[in-house]
Amino acid sequence: MVRIATGGDGGGLAGVEADLLAVCVFEDDDVPQGLLGGTAEVLKDGDFSGKKGSSALVYNPDGLRSPRLLLVGLGSRSSFSLDTLRRVAAAAATRARSLKLDSAAFALPVAEGSAARVAATEAAAEGATLGLYRFDRYKTKAEEHDLSTFTIVSDDEGVAEGAETGAKLAAATVLARDLQNEPSNTATPEFLAQRAREIAERHGMDVTILDRAAIEAEGLNGLATVGRSAENEPRFIVLEHKGGGEDEAPIVLVGKAVTFDSGGISIKPTAGMEDMKFDMSGGAGVLGAMDAVGSLGLPVNVVALVPSTENLPDGNAFKPGDVLTLHSGKTVEIVTTDAEGRLILADALSYARRYNPAAVIDCATLTGACHVALGDHASGLMGNDDGLIEEVRNAGEASGERAWHLPLFDEYTEQIRGNTADLRNSGGRYGGALTAGAFLKEFVDYPWAHLDIAGVAYGAKAKNAYTPKGGSGAPARLLVELLRGRARTGEGANA
Ligand code: BES
Ligand code: MN
Ligand code: ZN
Repeated sequence: MVRIATGGDGGGLAGVEADLLAVCVFEDDDVPQGLLGGTAEVLKDGDFSGKKGSSALVYNPDGLRSPRLLLVGLGSRSSFSLDTLRRVAAAAATRARSLKLDSAAFALPVAEGSAARVAATEAAAEGATLGLYRFDRYKTKAEEHDLSTFTIVSDDEGVAEGAETGAKLAAATVLARDLQNEPSNTATPEFLAQRAREIAERHGMDVTILDRAAIEAEGLNGLATVGRSAENEPRFIVLEHKGGGEDEAPIVLVGKAVTFDSGGISIKPTAGMEDMKFDMSGGAGVLGAMDAVGSLGLPVNVVALVPSTENLPDGNAFKPGDVLTLHSGKTVEIVTTDAEGRLILADALSYARRYNPAAVIDCATLTGACHVALGDHASGLMGNDDGLIEEVRNAGEASGERAWHLPLFDEYTEQIRGNTADLRNSGGRYGGALTAGAFLKEFVDYPWAHLDIAGVAYGAKAKNAYTPKGGSGAPARLLVELLRGRARTGEGANA
Protein backbone atom coordinates (compact mmCIF):
# COMPACT_ATOMS: atom_id res chain seq x y z
CA MET A 1 0.00 0.00 0.00
CA VAL A 2 1.13 3.54 -0.71
CA ARG A 3 2.81 5.43 2.13
CA ILE A 4 1.07 8.73 2.95
CA ALA A 5 3.48 11.46 4.05
CA THR A 6 3.18 15.16 4.82
CA GLY A 7 5.51 18.14 4.88
CA GLY A 8 7.92 19.90 2.60
CA ASP A 9 6.25 23.22 1.91
CA GLY A 10 8.98 25.17 3.72
CA GLY A 11 10.14 26.61 0.43
CA GLY A 12 6.70 26.76 -1.19
CA LEU A 13 5.87 24.60 -4.16
CA ALA A 14 9.20 25.42 -5.79
CA GLY A 15 11.16 23.23 -3.40
CA VAL A 16 8.91 20.17 -3.46
CA GLU A 17 10.86 17.10 -4.49
CA ALA A 18 8.68 14.44 -6.00
CA ASP A 19 8.51 12.71 -9.36
CA LEU A 20 5.20 14.49 -9.87
CA LEU A 21 3.68 17.47 -8.11
CA ALA A 22 -0.09 17.84 -8.38
CA VAL A 23 -1.61 21.29 -7.91
CA CYS A 24 -5.35 21.86 -7.69
CA VAL A 25 -6.88 24.67 -9.70
CA PHE A 26 -10.38 26.06 -9.31
CA GLU A 27 -12.25 26.86 -12.47
CA ASP A 28 -11.91 30.49 -13.55
CA ASP A 29 -9.50 31.26 -10.71
CA ASP A 30 -6.22 33.10 -10.89
CA VAL A 31 -3.07 31.11 -11.47
CA PRO A 32 -2.15 29.49 -8.12
CA GLN A 33 0.75 31.07 -6.31
CA GLY A 34 4.15 29.62 -6.99
CA LEU A 35 3.49 28.68 -10.60
CA LEU A 36 5.61 30.57 -13.08
CA GLY A 37 6.42 31.15 -16.71
CA GLY A 38 5.32 28.41 -19.08
CA THR A 39 3.13 26.86 -16.44
CA ALA A 40 1.20 30.00 -15.85
CA GLU A 41 0.82 30.26 -19.63
CA VAL A 42 -0.85 26.84 -19.81
CA LEU A 43 -3.50 28.21 -17.52
CA LYS A 44 -3.85 31.64 -19.06
CA ASP A 45 -4.05 30.36 -22.62
CA GLY A 46 -7.13 28.45 -21.73
CA ASP A 47 -5.88 24.97 -22.61
CA PHE A 48 -6.64 24.14 -19.03
CA SER A 49 -9.45 25.89 -17.25
CA GLY A 50 -9.74 23.97 -14.00
CA LYS A 51 -12.92 22.21 -15.04
CA LYS A 52 -13.88 19.37 -12.69
CA GLY A 53 -12.18 16.16 -13.72
CA SER A 54 -9.80 17.82 -16.18
CA SER A 55 -6.02 17.76 -15.89
CA ALA A 56 -2.88 18.93 -17.71
CA LEU A 57 0.63 17.57 -17.37
CA VAL A 58 3.56 19.97 -17.70
CA TYR A 59 7.14 18.69 -18.00
CA ASN A 60 10.11 20.51 -16.47
CA PRO A 61 7.93 23.34 -15.17
CA ASP A 62 9.65 26.70 -14.74
CA GLY A 63 10.92 27.37 -11.24
CA LEU A 64 9.88 24.03 -9.76
CA ARG A 65 12.15 21.27 -8.61
CA SER A 66 9.69 18.55 -9.46
CA PRO A 67 10.16 17.38 -13.07
CA ARG A 68 6.42 17.01 -13.63
CA LEU A 69 3.56 19.28 -12.68
CA LEU A 70 0.04 17.91 -12.88
CA LEU A 71 -2.65 20.56 -12.84
CA VAL A 72 -5.93 19.06 -11.65
CA GLY A 73 -9.25 20.79 -12.03
CA LEU A 74 -11.60 21.21 -9.05
CA GLY A 75 -14.49 22.89 -10.86
CA SER A 76 -16.17 25.93 -9.36
CA ARG A 77 -15.48 27.07 -5.81
CA SER A 78 -19.19 26.88 -5.00
CA SER A 79 -19.37 23.16 -5.86
CA PHE A 80 -16.25 22.25 -3.86
CA SER A 81 -16.54 19.51 -1.24
CA LEU A 82 -14.27 17.04 0.48
CA ASP A 83 -15.44 14.46 -2.01
CA THR A 84 -14.04 16.59 -4.85
CA LEU A 85 -10.74 16.41 -3.03
CA ARG A 86 -10.90 12.64 -2.63
CA ARG A 87 -11.45 12.37 -6.36
CA VAL A 88 -8.64 14.68 -7.46
CA ALA A 89 -6.18 13.11 -5.02
CA ALA A 90 -7.12 9.71 -6.43
CA ALA A 91 -6.74 11.01 -9.98
CA ALA A 92 -3.29 12.43 -9.19
CA ALA A 93 -2.11 9.26 -7.48
CA THR A 94 -3.31 6.93 -10.22
CA ARG A 95 -1.85 9.19 -12.92
CA ALA A 96 1.54 9.04 -11.17
CA ARG A 97 1.26 5.26 -10.96
CA SER A 98 0.38 4.87 -14.60
CA LEU A 99 3.45 6.97 -15.44
CA LYS A 100 5.39 4.39 -13.41
CA LEU A 101 6.66 6.98 -10.93
CA ASP A 102 7.71 6.29 -7.35
CA SER A 103 6.58 9.45 -5.62
CA ALA A 104 3.87 12.05 -5.99
CA ALA A 105 3.17 15.21 -4.00
CA PHE A 106 -0.18 16.93 -3.68
CA ALA A 107 -0.74 20.59 -2.86
CA LEU A 108 -3.96 21.26 -0.94
CA PRO A 109 -6.34 23.88 -2.31
CA VAL A 110 -7.11 25.10 1.20
CA ALA A 111 -5.54 28.10 2.92
CA GLU A 112 -2.59 27.43 5.20
CA GLY A 113 -3.22 27.45 8.90
CA SER A 114 -6.97 26.84 8.52
CA ALA A 115 -8.85 24.13 10.36
CA ALA A 116 -10.24 23.00 7.02
CA ARG A 117 -6.72 21.94 6.12
CA VAL A 118 -6.80 18.96 8.46
CA ALA A 119 -10.10 17.72 7.03
CA ALA A 120 -8.74 18.31 3.53
CA THR A 121 -5.62 16.31 4.34
CA GLU A 122 -7.77 13.46 5.61
CA ALA A 123 -9.79 13.46 2.41
CA ALA A 124 -6.71 13.61 0.17
CA ALA A 125 -5.09 10.71 2.05
CA GLU A 126 -8.28 8.67 1.73
CA GLY A 127 -8.70 9.50 -1.93
CA ALA A 128 -5.14 8.62 -2.90
CA THR A 129 -5.10 5.33 -1.01
CA LEU A 130 -8.53 4.26 -2.24
CA GLY A 131 -7.88 5.30 -5.83
CA LEU A 132 -4.74 3.16 -5.94
CA TYR A 133 -6.57 0.13 -4.58
CA ARG A 134 -6.56 -3.01 -6.64
CA PHE A 135 -7.33 -6.62 -5.92
CA ASP A 136 -4.72 -8.71 -7.67
CA ARG A 137 -3.89 -11.58 -5.35
CA TYR A 138 -5.17 -14.12 -7.86
CA LYS A 139 -3.22 -12.69 -10.81
CA THR A 140 -0.26 -14.99 -11.36
CA LYS A 141 1.67 -12.29 -13.19
CA ALA A 142 2.36 -9.27 -11.02
CA GLU A 143 0.52 -6.21 -12.30
CA GLU A 144 2.00 -2.88 -13.19
CA HIS A 145 4.03 -0.70 -10.99
CA ASP A 146 3.07 0.61 -7.52
CA LEU A 147 3.40 4.19 -6.32
CA SER A 148 5.45 4.16 -3.12
CA THR A 149 4.92 7.61 -1.56
CA PHE A 150 2.13 10.19 -1.76
CA THR A 151 3.08 13.37 0.08
CA ILE A 152 0.54 15.97 1.07
CA VAL A 153 2.44 19.23 0.87
CA SER A 154 1.97 20.96 4.19
CA ASP A 155 3.89 21.66 7.38
CA ASP A 156 0.78 22.89 9.15
CA GLU A 157 0.00 21.74 12.62
CA GLY A 158 -2.37 18.82 12.75
CA VAL A 159 -1.83 17.89 9.14
CA ALA A 160 0.40 14.89 9.85
CA GLU A 161 -2.31 13.59 12.16
CA GLY A 162 -4.94 14.28 9.50
CA ALA A 163 -2.97 12.20 7.04
CA GLU A 164 -2.73 9.39 9.54
CA THR A 165 -6.47 9.49 10.21
CA GLY A 166 -7.18 9.51 6.49
CA ALA A 167 -4.95 6.48 6.03
CA LYS A 168 -6.79 4.64 8.83
CA LEU A 169 -10.18 5.44 7.29
CA ALA A 170 -8.92 4.25 3.93
CA ALA A 171 -7.58 1.08 5.55
CA ALA A 172 -11.09 0.31 6.83
CA THR A 173 -12.41 0.53 3.29
CA VAL A 174 -9.51 -1.50 1.94
CA LEU A 175 -10.21 -4.23 4.49
CA ALA A 176 -13.87 -4.27 3.46
CA ARG A 177 -13.01 -4.31 -0.26
CA ASP A 178 -10.55 -7.17 0.18
CA LEU A 179 -13.20 -9.25 1.94
CA GLN A 180 -15.77 -8.42 -0.74
CA ASN A 181 -13.53 -9.18 -3.68
CA GLU A 182 -12.38 -12.50 -2.27
CA PRO A 183 -14.31 -15.24 -4.10
CA SER A 184 -16.81 -17.29 -2.14
CA ASN A 185 -14.78 -20.49 -2.41
CA THR A 186 -12.33 -18.75 -0.06
CA ALA A 187 -14.50 -16.20 1.71
CA THR A 188 -16.70 -18.61 3.68
CA PRO A 189 -18.46 -17.71 6.93
CA GLU A 190 -15.54 -19.20 8.88
CA PHE A 191 -13.11 -17.10 6.80
CA LEU A 192 -14.97 -13.95 7.88
CA ALA A 193 -14.97 -15.18 11.47
CA GLN A 194 -11.21 -15.60 11.28
CA ARG A 195 -10.80 -12.03 9.97
CA ALA A 196 -12.99 -10.83 12.87
CA ARG A 197 -10.73 -12.67 15.33
CA GLU A 198 -7.74 -10.87 13.82
CA ILE A 199 -9.43 -7.47 14.16
CA ALA A 200 -10.22 -8.27 17.79
CA GLU A 201 -6.63 -9.35 18.40
CA ARG A 202 -5.22 -6.20 16.77
CA HIS A 203 -7.31 -3.79 18.78
CA GLY A 204 -8.03 -5.61 22.03
CA MET A 205 -11.72 -6.19 21.33
CA ASP A 206 -13.86 -9.07 22.58
CA VAL A 207 -14.85 -11.57 19.96
CA THR A 208 -17.43 -14.35 20.11
CA ILE A 209 -18.09 -16.68 17.21
CA LEU A 210 -21.15 -18.92 17.27
CA ASP A 211 -20.85 -22.07 15.15
CA ARG A 212 -23.80 -24.04 13.77
CA ALA A 213 -24.58 -25.78 17.06
CA ALA A 214 -24.33 -22.54 19.05
CA ILE A 215 -26.48 -20.71 16.48
CA GLU A 216 -29.17 -23.37 16.89
CA ALA A 217 -28.85 -23.34 20.67
CA GLU A 218 -29.23 -19.54 20.70
CA GLY A 219 -32.42 -19.84 18.63
CA LEU A 220 -31.07 -17.88 15.68
CA ASN A 221 -33.38 -19.95 13.52
CA GLY A 222 -33.37 -17.74 10.45
CA LEU A 223 -29.59 -18.04 10.22
CA ALA A 224 -29.65 -21.74 11.11
CA THR A 225 -32.32 -22.44 8.49
CA VAL A 226 -30.69 -20.53 5.63
CA GLY A 227 -27.36 -22.14 6.53
CA ARG A 228 -28.74 -25.64 6.96
CA SER A 229 -28.21 -26.81 3.40
CA ALA A 230 -24.66 -25.52 2.92
CA GLU A 231 -21.50 -27.56 3.46
CA ASN A 232 -19.68 -24.50 4.80
CA GLU A 233 -21.23 -23.92 8.20
CA PRO A 234 -22.83 -20.61 9.14
CA ARG A 235 -21.26 -18.33 11.74
CA PHE A 236 -22.67 -15.60 13.94
CA ILE A 237 -19.86 -13.11 14.59
CA VAL A 238 -19.90 -10.76 17.59
CA LEU A 239 -17.19 -8.12 18.06
CA GLU A 240 -17.24 -5.74 21.01
CA HIS A 241 -15.23 -2.54 21.29
CA LYS A 242 -15.38 -1.06 24.78
CA GLY A 243 -14.04 2.44 24.28
CA GLY A 244 -16.75 4.27 26.23
CA GLY A 245 -18.01 4.29 29.80
CA GLU A 246 -18.93 1.02 31.43
CA ASP A 247 -22.66 1.72 31.53
CA GLU A 248 -22.78 3.65 28.31
CA ALA A 249 -25.27 2.10 25.87
CA PRO A 250 -23.48 0.84 22.77
CA ILE A 251 -24.09 1.48 19.13
CA VAL A 252 -24.71 -1.85 17.43
CA LEU A 253 -23.71 -2.37 13.82
CA VAL A 254 -25.32 -5.28 11.98
CA GLY A 255 -24.01 -6.49 8.62
CA LYS A 256 -25.54 -9.10 6.32
CA ALA A 257 -22.84 -11.54 5.24
CA VAL A 258 -24.27 -14.09 2.83
CA THR A 259 -21.00 -15.28 1.32
CA PHE A 260 -22.85 -16.63 -1.70
CA ASP A 261 -26.52 -16.12 -2.50
CA SER A 262 -27.68 -18.60 -5.13
CA GLY A 263 -31.28 -17.91 -4.12
CA GLY A 264 -31.57 -21.41 -2.62
CA ILE A 265 -34.52 -23.51 -3.88
CA SER A 266 -35.89 -20.28 -5.42
CA ILE A 267 -32.70 -20.31 -7.44
CA LYS A 268 -31.54 -17.22 -9.29
CA PRO A 269 -30.97 -17.12 -13.07
CA THR A 270 -27.40 -17.62 -14.31
CA ALA A 271 -26.82 -14.08 -15.59
CA GLY A 272 -24.97 -12.08 -12.97
CA MET A 273 -25.09 -14.81 -10.34
CA GLU A 274 -21.32 -14.54 -9.93
CA ASP A 275 -21.89 -11.15 -8.30
CA MET A 276 -23.67 -12.86 -5.43
CA LYS A 277 -20.26 -13.42 -3.84
CA PHE A 278 -20.74 -9.75 -2.90
CA ASP A 279 -23.80 -10.55 -0.80
CA MET A 280 -21.58 -10.36 2.28
CA SER A 281 -20.84 -6.67 1.67
CA GLY A 282 -22.80 -5.43 4.70
CA GLY A 283 -20.71 -7.66 6.95
CA ALA A 284 -17.53 -6.55 5.18
CA GLY A 285 -18.42 -2.89 5.71
CA VAL A 286 -19.12 -3.50 9.40
CA LEU A 287 -15.83 -5.39 9.89
CA GLY A 288 -13.95 -2.63 8.05
CA ALA A 289 -15.59 -0.03 10.27
CA MET A 290 -14.63 -1.99 13.40
CA ASP A 291 -11.00 -2.01 12.26
CA ALA A 292 -11.04 1.81 12.07
CA VAL A 293 -12.90 2.07 15.39
CA GLY A 294 -9.99 0.13 16.86
CA SER A 295 -7.15 1.90 15.08
CA LEU A 296 -8.61 5.33 15.90
CA GLY A 297 -9.30 4.19 19.46
CA LEU A 298 -12.76 5.79 19.42
CA PRO A 299 -14.08 6.49 22.94
CA VAL A 300 -17.45 4.84 22.33
CA ASN A 301 -18.92 1.40 22.91
CA VAL A 302 -19.58 -0.40 19.65
CA VAL A 303 -20.85 -3.91 19.01
CA ALA A 304 -20.70 -5.57 15.59
CA LEU A 305 -23.08 -8.42 14.75
CA VAL A 306 -22.40 -10.26 11.52
CA PRO A 307 -24.67 -13.19 10.65
CA SER A 308 -22.89 -15.13 7.94
CA THR A 309 -24.00 -18.04 5.78
CA GLU A 310 -24.20 -19.36 2.26
CA ASN A 311 -27.61 -19.62 0.61
CA LEU A 312 -27.46 -22.86 -1.37
CA PRO A 313 -30.04 -25.55 -2.20
CA ASP A 314 -29.84 -29.25 -1.35
CA GLY A 315 -32.22 -32.01 -0.23
CA ASN A 316 -32.30 -30.58 3.27
CA ALA A 317 -32.91 -27.00 2.18
CA PHE A 318 -35.79 -24.83 3.42
CA LYS A 319 -38.58 -24.38 0.89
CA PRO A 320 -41.25 -21.91 -0.19
CA GLY A 321 -44.28 -22.45 2.02
CA ASP A 322 -42.22 -23.42 5.07
CA VAL A 323 -42.91 -21.58 8.32
CA LEU A 324 -40.03 -20.60 10.62
CA THR A 325 -40.02 -19.25 14.15
CA LEU A 326 -37.31 -16.62 14.26
CA HIS A 327 -35.15 -15.61 17.24
CA SER A 328 -37.70 -13.04 18.44
CA GLY A 329 -40.46 -15.65 18.52
CA LYS A 330 -42.30 -14.21 15.50
CA THR A 331 -43.25 -16.64 12.76
CA VAL A 332 -42.52 -16.20 9.06
CA GLU A 333 -43.94 -17.93 6.06
CA ILE A 334 -41.37 -18.40 3.33
CA VAL A 335 -42.57 -17.07 -0.02
CA THR A 336 -39.16 -17.29 -1.60
CA THR A 337 -35.92 -18.70 -0.27
CA ASP A 338 -34.18 -15.86 -2.11
CA ALA A 339 -35.40 -13.36 0.49
CA GLU A 340 -32.89 -14.85 2.92
CA GLY A 341 -31.15 -11.65 4.02
CA ARG A 342 -34.09 -10.38 6.06
CA LEU A 343 -34.33 -13.73 7.88
CA ILE A 344 -30.75 -13.63 9.16
CA LEU A 345 -30.94 -9.88 9.86
CA ALA A 346 -34.19 -10.31 11.83
CA ASP A 347 -32.33 -12.74 14.09
CA ALA A 348 -29.40 -10.36 14.53
CA LEU A 349 -31.72 -7.40 15.23
CA SER A 350 -33.57 -9.30 17.94
CA TYR A 351 -30.25 -10.57 19.36
CA ALA A 352 -29.17 -6.89 19.58
CA ARG A 353 -31.90 -6.16 22.15
CA ARG A 354 -29.78 -7.66 24.93
CA TYR A 355 -27.40 -4.70 24.67
CA ASN A 356 -30.06 -2.04 25.34
CA PRO A 357 -28.46 -0.23 22.42
CA ALA A 358 -28.35 3.54 22.02
CA ALA A 359 -28.88 2.87 18.32
CA VAL A 360 -28.65 0.01 15.85
CA ILE A 361 -27.63 0.42 12.23
CA ASP A 362 -27.88 -2.51 9.88
CA CYS A 363 -26.47 -2.63 6.39
CA ALA A 364 -27.22 -5.20 3.76
CA THR A 365 -27.25 -5.91 0.04
CA LEU A 366 -30.91 -6.59 0.65
CA THR A 367 -32.92 -5.91 -2.48
CA GLY A 368 -32.44 -5.53 -6.21
CA ALA A 369 -35.37 -3.11 -5.94
CA CYS A 370 -33.24 -0.64 -4.00
CA HIS A 371 -30.65 -0.70 -6.75
CA VAL A 372 -33.41 -0.02 -9.28
CA ALA A 373 -34.76 2.87 -7.17
CA LEU A 374 -31.54 4.76 -6.46
CA GLY A 375 -29.10 3.47 -9.04
CA ASP A 376 -25.42 3.08 -8.21
CA HIS A 377 -25.08 6.27 -6.22
CA ALA A 378 -26.88 6.07 -2.89
CA SER A 379 -27.86 3.53 -0.27
CA GLY A 380 -31.51 3.32 0.65
CA LEU A 381 -31.94 4.62 4.20
CA MET A 382 -34.93 3.61 6.31
CA GLY A 383 -35.59 3.62 10.03
CA ASN A 384 -37.80 4.47 12.98
CA ASP A 385 -36.03 7.52 14.41
CA ASP A 386 -35.77 10.86 12.59
CA GLY A 387 -32.72 12.01 14.56
CA LEU A 388 -30.79 8.85 13.76
CA ILE A 389 -31.83 8.97 10.11
CA GLU A 390 -30.55 12.54 9.84
CA GLU A 391 -27.33 11.49 11.56
CA VAL A 392 -26.79 8.63 9.09
CA ARG A 393 -27.63 10.86 6.14
CA ASN A 394 -25.10 13.46 7.29
CA ALA A 395 -22.43 10.81 7.82
CA GLY A 396 -23.10 9.62 4.29
CA GLU A 397 -22.70 13.12 2.90
CA ALA A 398 -19.47 13.75 4.81
CA SER A 399 -17.89 10.40 3.92
CA GLY A 400 -18.93 10.44 0.27
CA GLU A 401 -21.01 7.28 0.89
CA ARG A 402 -24.41 8.83 0.28
CA ALA A 403 -27.63 7.51 1.78
CA TRP A 404 -31.12 8.63 0.82
CA HIS A 405 -34.14 8.42 3.10
CA LEU A 406 -36.99 6.18 1.91
CA PRO A 407 -40.37 5.76 3.65
CA LEU A 408 -41.65 2.92 5.83
CA PHE A 409 -45.38 3.61 5.67
CA ASP A 410 -47.68 1.21 7.53
CA GLU A 411 -49.05 0.06 4.18
CA TYR A 412 -45.71 -1.63 3.46
CA THR A 413 -46.09 -3.61 6.66
CA GLU A 414 -49.58 -4.64 5.50
CA GLN A 415 -47.94 -6.00 2.35
CA ILE A 416 -45.89 -8.51 4.38
CA ARG A 417 -48.61 -9.84 6.69
CA GLY A 418 -48.60 -13.66 6.56
CA ASN A 419 -51.44 -16.06 5.75
CA THR A 420 -50.46 -18.95 8.00
CA ALA A 421 -47.78 -17.06 9.99
CA ASP A 422 -47.23 -13.56 11.46
CA LEU A 423 -45.24 -12.38 8.47
CA ARG A 424 -44.25 -13.43 4.97
CA ASN A 425 -40.72 -12.90 3.72
CA SER A 426 -41.70 -11.14 0.50
CA GLY A 427 -44.16 -8.35 -0.20
CA GLY A 428 -44.05 -8.85 -3.95
CA ARG A 429 -42.48 -6.80 -6.65
CA TYR A 430 -43.60 -3.24 -5.91
CA GLY A 431 -41.81 -1.28 -3.22
CA GLY A 432 -39.43 -4.19 -2.71
CA ALA A 433 -36.82 -2.16 -0.79
CA LEU A 434 -39.52 -0.78 1.51
CA THR A 435 -41.32 -4.02 2.28
CA ALA A 436 -37.89 -5.47 3.16
CA GLY A 437 -37.31 -2.51 5.48
CA ALA A 438 -40.80 -2.92 6.93
CA PHE A 439 -40.01 -6.59 7.61
CA LEU A 440 -36.89 -5.67 9.62
CA LYS A 441 -38.83 -3.03 11.54
CA GLU A 442 -40.90 -5.83 13.07
CA PHE A 443 -37.83 -6.96 15.02
CA VAL A 444 -36.60 -3.70 16.59
CA ASP A 445 -37.62 -1.79 19.70
CA TYR A 446 -34.79 0.75 19.84
CA PRO A 447 -33.61 3.63 17.59
CA TRP A 448 -32.80 1.89 14.35
CA ALA A 449 -31.63 2.69 10.84
CA HIS A 450 -31.34 0.35 7.88
CA LEU A 451 -29.06 0.84 4.90
CA ASP A 452 -29.86 -1.12 1.76
CA ILE A 453 -26.50 -1.08 -0.03
CA ALA A 454 -27.40 -3.31 -2.99
CA GLY A 455 -26.64 -0.50 -5.48
CA VAL A 456 -23.48 0.91 -3.93
CA ALA A 457 -21.62 -2.08 -2.51
CA TYR A 458 -19.93 -3.13 -5.74
CA GLY A 459 -19.85 -2.38 -9.42
CA ALA A 460 -18.73 -3.80 -12.76
CA LYS A 461 -17.06 -0.47 -13.46
CA ALA A 462 -15.49 2.30 -11.39
CA LYS A 463 -18.04 4.52 -9.59
CA ASN A 464 -15.61 7.43 -9.34
CA ALA A 465 -11.85 8.08 -9.24
CA TYR A 466 -11.43 6.59 -5.77
CA THR A 467 -13.87 3.71 -6.18
CA PRO A 468 -12.55 1.20 -8.72
CA LYS A 469 -14.63 -1.68 -10.05
CA GLY A 470 -15.39 -4.55 -7.66
CA GLY A 471 -16.19 -4.08 -3.98
CA SER A 472 -16.52 -0.43 -2.94
CA GLY A 473 -16.10 -0.97 0.80
CA ALA A 474 -19.24 1.10 1.47
CA PRO A 475 -20.56 1.84 4.02
CA ALA A 476 -17.44 1.35 6.20
CA ARG A 477 -16.45 5.04 6.14
CA LEU A 478 -20.03 6.23 6.63
CA LEU A 479 -20.25 4.13 9.80
CA VAL A 480 -16.92 5.38 11.11
CA GLU A 481 -17.91 8.98 10.37
CA LEU A 482 -21.08 8.50 12.38
CA LEU A 483 -19.19 6.92 15.29
CA ARG A 484 -16.61 9.72 15.26
CA GLY A 485 -19.50 12.15 15.54
CA ARG A 486 -20.84 10.26 18.54
CA ALA A 487 -17.35 10.24 20.04
CA ARG A 488 -17.10 14.04 19.63
CA THR A 489 -20.41 14.83 21.27
CA GLY A 490 -20.30 11.93 23.69
CA GLU A 491 -23.98 11.33 23.13
CA GLY A 492 -26.78 10.36 20.87
CA ALA A 493 -28.31 11.63 17.70
CA ASN A 494 -30.75 13.98 19.31
CA ALA A 495 -28.25 15.65 21.61
N1 BES B 1 -28.92 -10.53 -2.21
C1 BES B 1 -30.17 -10.28 -2.82
C2 BES B 1 -30.38 -8.82 -3.19
C3 BES B 1 -29.55 -8.33 -4.33
C4 BES B 1 -29.94 -8.56 -5.62
C5 BES B 1 -28.42 -7.57 -4.09
C6 BES B 1 -29.19 -8.08 -6.66
C7 BES B 1 -27.67 -7.08 -5.13
C8 BES B 1 -28.06 -7.33 -6.43
C9 BES B 1 -31.31 -10.68 -1.87
O1 BES B 1 -31.05 -11.76 -1.06
C10 BES B 1 -32.45 -11.05 -2.76
O2 BES B 1 -32.34 -12.02 -3.45
N2 BES B 1 -33.50 -10.24 -2.72
C11 BES B 1 -34.64 -10.47 -3.53
C12 BES B 1 -35.84 -10.27 -2.68
C13 BES B 1 -37.13 -10.76 -3.31
C14 BES B 1 -37.03 -12.24 -3.59
C15 BES B 1 -38.27 -10.47 -2.36
C16 BES B 1 -34.60 -9.47 -4.68
O3 BES B 1 -34.15 -8.32 -4.50
O4 BES B 1 -34.98 -9.87 -5.78
MN1 MN C 1 -31.42 -13.63 -2.01
ZN1 ZN D 1 -29.05 -12.04 -0.53
